[in-house]
Amino acid sequence: MKPPGSPPIHASDVVPGLASRQLAWQVLQAVAAGAYADAALERELAAMARAGERLAPADRALATEIAYGAIRQRRLLDAWIDALGKVSAVRQPPALRWLLHVGLYQLLFSDRVPAAAAVSTTVALAKRAGLGRLAPVVNGLLRSLLRRRERPAGSGPCPCQEPWDGLALPADPAAALALRRSLPPWLAAGLLDWLPPERAETFTLACNAVPPLDLRVHALRTSRDALLERFAAAGVAARALPGIPHGLTLLERVGDPRALPGYGEGLWYVQDRSAQAIAPLLDPRPGQRILDACAAPGGKSTHLAELIGDRGEVWALDRSEARLRRLDRNAERLGLTAIRSLAADATALGELKPHWRGAFERILLDAPCSGLGTLARHPDARWRISPEAIDGLVLLQHQLLEAMLPLLAPGGRLLYATCTVEPRENGERIATLVAAHPDWTLLEERQWWPTPAAAECGGGDGFYAALLQGPGLAPDT
Ligand SMILES: C[S@@+](CC[C@H](N)C(=O)[O-])C[C@H]1O[C@@H](n2cnc3c(N)ncnc32)[C@H](O)[C@@H]1O
Repeated sequence: MKPPGSPPIHASDVVPGLASRQLAWQVLQAVAAGAYADAALERELAAMARAGERLAPADRALATEIAYGAIRQRRLLDAWIDALGKVSAVRQPPALRWLLHVGLYQLLFSDRVPAAAAVSTTVALAKRAGLGRLAPVVNGLLRSLLRRRERPAGSGPCPCQEPWDGLALPADPAAALALRRSLPPWLAAGLLDWLPPERAETFTLACNAVPPLDLRVHALRTSRDALLERFAAAGVAARALPGIPHGLTLLERVGDPRALPGYGEGLWYVQDRSAQAIAPLLDPRPGQRILDACAAPGGKSTHLAELIGDRGEVWALDRSEARLRRLDRNAERLGLTAIRSLAADATALGELKPHWRGAFERILLDAPCSGLGTLARHPDARWRISPEAIDGLVLLQHQLLEAMLPLLAPGGRLLYATCTVEPRENGERIATLVAAHPDWTLLEERQWWPTPAAAECGGGDGFYAALLQGPGLAPDT
């Protein structure tokens, strides 16, 4: 959705770098109006391409960094507007508020943009978009940030290192954490409940970092070494992920991963390193009948099919037909014939498929969840989710879990997984389930906390997994 009054973007604009900032500004406005960040960015880039304009890769990378970064840092950037402006952030005209975010983000977070360029491009954008009478406000506020951070206490040299230095922080630890790391206050309070303070801090660093791009090598079609060789020959820097048998990670940003070698041949699938640990936990075997009850877009269904050598049945269900079409395309690209997709509500399978009672030796329930383990990947997610929405998800997760139990074959295994760190959706769900069904055994439970990427390890999304065994004896035991 194009913000009203925005002039077309020209990659060849006379002010260097204006097009990338304008693109970022439009993404911020679209997200504020309800769009998803990645979809808004794609739409804006597509609109440019239709107009015959194309951003150079470096400009596209800058636009993405500013847009995603400013969305993540919304709370902190608003606090700066509150501190420096005559009008608070939420009372600013929205177009101005988001334009100020574009400028403030560059001044506070960007190593590669000189301060003068950040100010001049933001002011130029205001003039160009018909906000000329507000250009002095933009100029004044950005320059007062620079002054404030040069002399925060009115004297002495600048000790400002952190992007919040120069702001008054609240005394309450959760409110201060929310402001420093730009989180909704309820999430900051939750983190300090769930984790010791230093680990809560690590979590916030991870969710404000640019996430790595990891791939899962399709082991039935190629080896990780062979794929790394192809990448190296094409000049794509990548390395194997230690401890993750088919995982590799890219060492540099790439534009569209589909342009990487081997995509069309179905040699790999984009999948985060923590997500790659989930399907193997189920210990799937060739010839088994497996249900993946919340399957789209197919990351774990395709992994399951690969792990069983594409021999057996992987029933991939999802309530969303649109997402299921993506799963079908993924299965086809990877050439996996064991996958059978079905659009259905998994909470109603007992009525829809009565003959599925006791039919599956393995069930994966990768449940819809709050996604608090993947905040780095979804810059706008922290501003969408709420404790009330989590209440609704907890109820759905309970219904989904209960609906799975009758479908498992005697002695079969059920793996419950989420990409969140909220205990109500994870350990508490499983404790409630096992208390209500004492003949079910909890075999293993793991919580992965997101950590910032280091050279050799870390950097994965946050995930939870609980492996349960149903009552009765499996035929092979
Ligand atoms: C976490 S995502 C699944 C990701 C997938 N397992 C993968 O690895 O690519 C959760 C999925 O659950 C689906 N879903 C939500 N409620 C459902 C229901 N009642 N029945 C079936 N699918 C449902 C959503 O459409 C969404 O695709």
